[in-house]
Amino acid sequence: MDNRTYELIDELSETRRLDADGFEYLVAHQDEDAASELARRAVAAREPYYGTKVFVRGLIEFSNICKNDCLYCGLRASNSSCERYRLSAEDVLSCTDAGYELGFRTFVLQSGEDGWYNDERLCALVAAIHERHPDCAITLSVGERSRESYARLREAGADRYLLRHETADPQHYARLHPQAMSFENRMRCLHDLRELGYAVGVGMMVGSPYQTPAHLAADLSFIASFRPEMCGLGPFIPHHATPFAHMAAGTLEQTCYLLSIVRLINPAILLPATTALGTIDPLGREKGMMAGANVVMPNLSPSGVRGKYLLYDGKICMGDEAAECRRCLDLRMERIGYQVVVDRGDPAV
Ligand code: 5AD
Ligand code: FES
Repeated sequence: MDNRTYELIDELSETRRLDADGFEYLVAHQDEDAASELARRAVAAREPYYGTKVFVRGLIEFSNICKNDCLYCGLRASNSSCERYRLSAEDVLSCTDAGYELGFRTFVLQSGEDGWYNDERLCALVAAIHERHPDCAITLSVGERSRESYARLREAGADRYLLRHETADPQHYARLHPQAMSFENRMRCLHDLRELGYAVGVGMMVGSPYQTPAHLAADLSFIASFRPEMCGLGPFIPHHATPFAHMAAGTLEQTCYLLSIVRLINPAILLPATTALGTIDPLGREKGMMAGANVVMPNLSPSGVRGKYLLYDGKICMGDEAAECRRCLDLRMERIGYQVVVDRGDPAV
């Protein structure tokens, strides 16, 4: 680690931000020493808010039908080899009931942009979960919708919304998405969600095609200024039936490096060690926790459909029942000195 890198790490720990040049230099000068220094400080910054507590979210992937065509994603509409499914509201409710028994107090409903789940149907589902489990938080991750739609879902009982910004650079955004999608609309959605009172999660893939340190610096500056309550950070992993099939995957090391930086930008942020991180390394989620993450999101989807929600190749936990995943994570976290807690895990700010 050179002097400038050390100074930047110091400045980031003290002021909670850097200018874009500082972020870019830090990203471009990643080495083992810088990574362990950042991780040490990230863990220290997290300590007063979460200590070694780990929040769990029960992830329910309720439909893999998607009208979008993101170039990196295995669920893209053009992927005709993807076997499509949609869970009914009753199926989702049984998942939440089973999840509740297993100690989950946050449910994340995730899907492709499936038009069948219009406002009426999705609001009814959210309201039903809210009524059955009033002590649970409901997080939606269902993509871009109108402000009106976000408002109705919020009224129906949704508390949080995950919508990764994917990249804060408009040109880079255009290389990852079809023409029909725009960076401006993604930003419009995020600002609407924020104004409507959701706890908002942004995020990006690490090592996505064409990504440079300058793009990551723009992502970090965006996170520092938007101040999301949550941030999803995982490595890009190619999916064989997409235009990016032959692109290189992101690395464990760079993902952990960025987790530490994001933790230092906001010590109270909710930061998952993602399934993608667990996919590129058998101990990826553990290493993510030790770099500053504080959330894990095991799969609660019925095992019959799990193998079909494939954003990328090689996804872990395909055959496991929800109870097995829960137990597996308890053990994995215990082994590194962390404890999974039964808690809604609201943002600490
Ligand atoms: N590799 C890693 N992450 C991916 N996502 C989509 N496709 C991939 C992939 N091939 C991420 C996107 C999306 C989130 C739900 O999953 O960032 O927002
Ligand atoms: Fe699913 Fe380990 S978390 S089996």
